[in-house]
Amino acid sequence: MKNPPAISSRAKNLQASPLRKLAAAAETRKKTGVKVYHLNIGQPDLPTHPDVMTAVRKFNEPTIAYAPSNGLAPALQAWSSYYKKLQIDLKPEDIVITTGGSEGIIFALEAVCDANDEVIVFEPFYTNYNSFASLAGVTLKPVTLDIKDGFHLPSERDIVKAISKKTKAILICNPSNPTGTIFSKAELARLVKIARRYNLFILSDEVYREFAFENKHYSIMDFPAIRQQAVVLDSASKRFNVCGARIGIVGSKNKDVIASVLKMGMARLSVATIEQLALIPLLTNPKKYTSPITKEFKKRRDIVYTGLKKIPNITFSKPEGAFYIIIGLPIDDADRFASWMINQFHNNKETVLLAPAAGFYATPGKGKREVRLAYMLKEKDLKRSLELLRLALAEYNS
Ligand SMILES: Cc1ncc(COP(=O)(O)O)c(C=O)c1O
Repeated sequence: MKNPPAISSRAKNLQASPLRKLAAAAETRKKTGVKVYHLNIGQPDLPTHPDVMTAVRKFNEPTIAYAPSNGLAPALQAWSSYYKKLQIDLKPEDIVITTGGSEGIIFALEAVCDANDEVIVFEPFYTNYNSFASLAGVTLKPVTLDIKDGFHLPSERDIVKAISKKTKAILICNPSNPTGTIFSKAELARLVKIARRYNLFILSDEVYREFAFENKHYSIMDFPAIRQQAVVLDSASKRFNVCGARIGIVGSKNKDVIASVLKMGMARLSVATIEQLALIPLLTNPKKYTSPITKEFKKRRDIVYTGLKKIPNITFSKPEGAFYIIIGLPIDDADRFASWMINQFHNNKETVLLAPAAGFYATPGKGKREVRLAYMLKEKDLKRSLELLRLALAEYNS
């Protein structure tokens, strides 16, 4: 019998999530009676607010019909009112509701780039940007950030060096997954200046907007000079603890961008009807829901920061937002260390699952000695996880 035809090289080259690499090992270890603390993945552990569940139950139509491709009118209105409260000018017609922020990022890349165009990203970056770029046939051009600068932006000159004739956009994540960095107004102004000079789009992933612990978070929409080049990528997932609702948006004042994203939306028909509606109460009164979550994450950030200070010879900065931190470890290879920790190390039958940071870099060899922690555990477990990390490093290096 003949072999079946080969799958596409696009599919072959697509990365499997590096975050899930050690997940199978963790499951095996758990079966041996070892408790595993997950510091590897950013799935919030807090309950979804009961108002969302009430809104889901309230749905009383005879049919779950397709929604319009750009989104249901009351949902678009609710997103627009959410932005208005933040002084962000996005009218319902400037918004397309998407199946999570993920679909929105793919649509936005496809809307502004042709195949083989380049998009500048700052590494370490959200690792799924790799897959989104592959699907869109776009090449990511990384500009490396430095852990010693708290992963803040380099000089204008260093950013401009990455621009070529093929560059169409700069993709940022602010507040950042995986670094927890928030770009200042001055840093964003630097990007705006570059984007205007080289006529580039700025695609701004702001899904962690509310999780800003000290300094004010600025949106790319706070820069009127770049209105026609700015695209906001957003999601309800993390800010409202509704990851499974799969609701995000693409927002822009550029009518061509929104019309293009909508055409893609038309091809996939619509986004989940009930979930769009169920989020309306949250979008209309966002602070009620986001304030307690932000307070909880800030508390956890402080626990992590204090816990990490007790570990000798590691490098890190205080995260300013989101719920992630990258730390530099005094080891040869974070992949090997994380694998050893999950397969062999334990203290009183407990260990930790880490995310090696190389998967957040596009430049080969970068992030080899770094790991990302997502602080999605309750206070006691978080403290214990950091203690386990300290003990593991001491044992690994002895
Ligand atoms: C930076 C960033 N952008 C986008 C997303 C996509 O989220 P969703 O598709 O759940 O809206 C995530 C999810 O973890 C993320 O961390």
